[in-house]
Amino acid sequence: RKILLINGPNLNLLGTREPHIYGSTTLLQVVEQTIHRGKELGITVVPFQSNHEGAIVDFLHSHFVPVPAPVPVPATSAMSASTTTTAKTTTSDPATTARFKPEPALSPPKTAVIINPAAYTHTSVAIRDALLATSFPFIEVHISNVHAREAWRHHSYFSDKAVAVIVGLGTFGYQAALEFWAQKWEEEDA
Ligand code: DQA
Repeated sequence: RKILLINGPNLNLLGTREPHIYGSTTLLQVVEQTIHRGKELGITVVPFQSNHEGAIVDFLHSHFVPVPAPVPVPATSAMSASTTTTAKTTTSDPATTARFKPEPALSPPKTAVIINPAAYTHTSVAIRDALLATSFPFIEVHISNVHAREAWRHHSYFSDKAVAVIVGLGTFGYQAALEFWAQKWEEEDA
């Protein structure tokens, strides 16, 4: 079980950056707490912070383990010569599909994301697309209550695809998200 803990631009300055809005806890403290609690819960927390949009996209890609798509087998004499019919028949052939299912031992770890995209929340189609491309389920966290701030902070490129959105709980929001994933996975595997 793995959590990617992603923080966007300026969050490296957490603790000293506008403390009246973001509080005095540092990003290092957030990361240490999350890793520590993750260990207790049997979850590996992989932290990442960047001030660069593409670096966050690359980080998501680097944890993506694509499941191979079933490969069409050549048409046999029993099958129609028509290409469309052949493709349909072969991809839905249970024997073929089964061959390309990964063995349980080789399955990628259960992976979820806790992300505070920071200013990219309001601008980044690229990070949104990377989350959708990797299909990691994610929780969006904001330390401040963005809805009580400037109108342009009310729109997020992430919220409609997030499993949950946590705003305004301060840095406790990250811990709340971690507890949620732990509980969800416990229930799924029970
Ligand atoms: C933030 C809110 C964003 O609007 C802002 O740009 C940030 C931090 C938050 O955690 O409250 O950098 O994501």
